[in-house]
Amino acid sequence: MQHDSLPAEETLDPLDWKANEKTGTEMVSDMMQFLQNVRSRATWQPPSDAAKSHFQMAVPLEGLPLEKVYDEFKQYILPFPTGNIHPRFWGWVMGNGSSSAMLADMLASGINLNQGGGNQIGGWVEQQVIEWFKELFGFPKEASGLVVSGGSMANLIGLTVARYAKADFDLRKEGIYGSKKRMMVYASSEVHNCSNKAVELLGLGSESLRLIPVNENYEIDIRQLAAQIRLDREQGLQPFCVIGNAVTVNTGAVDDLDAIADLCEKENLWFHVDGAIGAMLALSEKYKHIIKGMERADSIAFDLHKWMYLPYEAGCTLVRKGLHHYRAFSMHADYLAHEERGAAAGDIWFSDYGVELSRGFKALKIWMSIKEHGIKKFGRLVTQNVEQVQYLKALVMSNPKLELLAPAPMNILCFRYTMPSTSDEIMNKLNKELLLRLHESGVAVPSYTVLHGKYALRVANTNHRSRRVDFDVLISKVIELGNDLEKEYAEK
Ligand SMILES: Cc1ncc(COP(=O)(O)O)c(C=O)c1O
Repeated sequence: MQHDSLPAEETLDPLDWKANEKTGTEMVSDMMQFLQNVRSRATWQPPSDAAKSHFQMAVPLEGLPLEKVYDEFKQYILPFPTGNIHPRFWGWVMGNGSSSAMLADMLASGINLNQGGGNQIGGWVEQQVIEWFKELFGFPKEASGLVVSGGSMANLIGLTVARYAKADFDLRKEGIYGSKKRMMVYASSEVHNCSNKAVELLGLGSESLRLIPVNENYEIDIRQLAAQIRLDREQGLQPFCVIGNAVTVNTGAVDDLDAIADLCEKENLWFHVDGAIGAMLALSEKYKHIIKGMERADSIAFDLHKWMYLPYEAGCTLVRKGLHHYRAFSMHADYLAHEERGAAAGDIWFSDYGVELSRGFKALKIWMSIKEHGIKKFGRLVTQNVEQVQYLKALVMSNPKLELLAPAPMNILCFRYTMPSTSDEIMNKLNKELLLRLHESGVAVPSYTVLHGKYALRVANTNHRSRRVDFDVLISKVIELGNDLEKEYAEK
């Protein structure tokens, strides 16, 4: 065959590797500067109109040199991030990332291995980090795990295994149609809505998630939980799972996990822990007792892009009885058969433990970060974040203009600016406006929630860059904005 007579063949590899490397080196050095100087920039700013319209273009038919595309990144993307890498970002529950985990992500993309399965080293790395978390969380040898995209997926995986393990019929074959009794899940009214989604996605229907009232500390009321389970059984339903919260998203409450474990044992129910935030308390010498009982769970969902500060995305599910986990997801196909030797060998194929077949190498940044810093440092940072919030709590409580709206036992605090003899309705409007101005000021980004009808400014601290002084800055800005708003309201 005469190759010369055929069309030239192409590749995405650079024509000029040296130039490509130069741009790559510039990107790394720019990113290091970007992270190093984060404190000097605004916490957040909205994307400019020019930036937004830059992303409403026709598809480019021909390419540009990489340096030019990178210039566009610097101009239209880099100035407008979420803000969560900043020391004064405490909105929702977001971690900061770190420079070394960023580099690990680059390495993972470079070698671009697929973590679905097969005889490649990434599987060993993922299993290594799973083994570490099993040990850290007091799980037995036979437990299994899966690195996933985050808490939502981690909870979905845990609840899927729970439903499979507790079904008294062939669930894989018959689906929910095989169920003679409606299968019921229980959690406190403070459970994160990803569990509601998971229950819906599992086809159980939102009414199969019983939201149990909480006490004054926003922890599940165990007596009401037990009573509801009893009542449901009497009514011909099949309770099968209780979700315990290890740090709730709204107020940072932790359910009595030992009491839930006792109840689940007595009632033969699956005990799942949503530890998206709070599982990491296990790393803190000072606060690990708060989540006592988590080690008795049948499954734990936890995030690594929150309180382990890794860049998005990374979460994990652990399942006490690995066989249940495997049986809930594994599926044979000739084109995916596991061989004894060659590239299709490998003891654990992670695609047998979750939804995804093709999976990225998220495990690398987890492994590298733990190796680089050591787990004790993560524990100290978790402790530091809790203590910073306790410092903020003292600032709020000592300021007559501010009101603490929930107990704030851990790293999440809800408060508001107050005006004497003012209705909640007005105060809600004022605090909402205050929060929006605070965001727009670029000084700090807390988020919000509503507690007993009261609009709250909500600080969730999973930030390794925050310093105590950042909370002083927050409070003085809140007071300044509150005073301005109070005057505006008085003039109306
Ligand atoms: C308690 C809790 N569970 C689950 C989730 C969902 O996690 P992710 O955002 O990683 O999907 C969150 C997110 O904030 C959370 O706070």
